[in-house]
Amino acid sequence: MAKIGGIILAAGRSTRMKSATPKVLHRICGQPVVQFTISAALSSGANPVALVISPEFKKDFSELFGANKKIKLAFQKQQLGTADAAKAARTAVMNACEYSLIIPGDVPLIKPETLKNLINETIEKNAVCGLLTMEFDDPAHYGRVIRNRHGFVTAIVEARDATPEQLLINEVNSSIYCVRTDWLFKALQKISTNNTQKEFYLTDIVKIAASEGFNVIAKCLPESFELMGINTRQELALANRLLNQRILDDLMTNGVGIIDDKSTFIDFGVTIGADTLVMPNCSFQGATRIGAGCNIAQGVVIKNSFIGNGVKIKPYSVIEEAVIKDNAQIGPFARLRPGAEIEQEARIGNFVEVKKSIIKKGAKANHLSYIGDAVIGEGTNVGCGMITCNYDGKNKYKTVVGKNVFIGSDVQFVAPVKIGDGATIGAGSTITENVPANSLAIARGRQVVKKNWKKP
Ligand code: UD1
Ligand code: CA
Repeated sequence: MAKIGGIILAAGRSTRMKSATPKVLHRICGQPVVQFTISAALSSGANPVALVISPEFKKDFSELFGANKKIKLAFQKQQLGTADAAKAARTAVMNACEYSLIIPGDVPLIKPETLKNLINETIEKNAVCGLLTMEFDDPAHYGRVIRNRHGFVTAIVEARDATPEQLLINEVNSSIYCVRTDWLFKALQKISTNNTQKEFYLTDIVKIAASEGFNVIAKCLPESFELMGINTRQELALANRLLNQRILDDLMTNGVGIIDDKSTFIDFGVTIGADTLVMPNCSFQGATRIGAGCNIAQGVVIKNSFIGNGVKIKPYSVIEEAVIKDNAQIGPFARLRPGAEIEQEARIGNFVEVKKSIIKKGAKANHLSYIGDAVIGEGTNVGCGMITCNYDGKNKYKTVVGKNVFIGSDVQFVAPVKIGDGATIGAGSTITENVPANSLAIARGRQVVKKNWKKP
């Protein structure tokens, strides 16, 4: 098996995005565009993968990819074109790899199988260069594939440099190539800037190979958005939609119910168990894992959270960095903030906010509460409007409530404070001292009634 190196071109200026961030670091379905390209290259067997970037963004790329030993950062100092960018990968691939797989960093929908097929065919047919092409009804800004009357590819012409007849060609260049490495770096030296953009075009390697009498194979994928490049915000949005659809399809194939695939947005890498039902307008982000048999209603947002099995989440709840265990019920309109842990069969109702707190098994906080830095014991009932006063303006303090406590409505716990098992707290109490187990605590002014009282 020949050794394959990857070359990913990601040093471009991203002019058409009108953004200070390189376009390949913009995100689709939660991950940077170039992350998908790199993963596909690695899965197709390329190793190492040279990632060609501009030195200006070294820090951003190092933070994302520096830890992976298979990825070698290479630097293109000036953005002189795609051929110049490829030259920067020389040290990484030249001696170790017989073939180089070149992929523009802005092609995130590419699948590893497609890359593998290109590599295999290029090697089997002993070609110096293999190329993926696609057909679009509207070939727009893509480079046109020029074939001679025998069907052999002889050149790629950029849209900007094309004649009106060439512009009518629907077969376009994906810019994904598998090239014999030693030949590639010789060919790159022969490329000039003789074009409207005065750039070194990588596409010229096709013309060079044909003129040297080498066979260039071009594999055409019909109507292939898999090979689409991202140059504009519109294309970024389209890629996001297409990848999101792919993610939803995979989930549905595995038994997840998605009611409206047009309004459901799920990040790459989110897992969901079978028979979980997702209603419209939900968004699940980051490292979220959702169990089986859950029911997730309209407008629920979940980020970096773990949800067990059989959990019911009612409409418009927002959940971030939280854990919800089996058969718990959340919402509607609940807010779980980082560190919220809702145990089995517990219930969090409308307008309840939970932060860095454990709500133990079977406990209930059904209405209008703020629970911060607290433990609410097993089976405890939190009355409507209970709040923890956990912050004195400087430090945060804990409220610890035992098992089977009954907390009346509108209670404030001024932390730090501990409530023993089985205690009862009278409605409207402001609790500043610990309450022993099985006792009743009331801390409110007595009611005064003045009979036949006249208004002054
Ligand atoms: C390129 C191809 C075009 C093809 C299209 C497919 C050329 C000249 N044209 O055009 O035939 O149809 O891709 O998507 O190759 N880059 C650098 N350094 C540079 C310039 C670009 O690293 O100096 C990187 C960019 O970050 C990008 C990739 O190379 O990821 C492709 O560059 P881009 O400007 O997007 O090329 P296209 O105009 O799309
Ligand atoms: Ca592009």
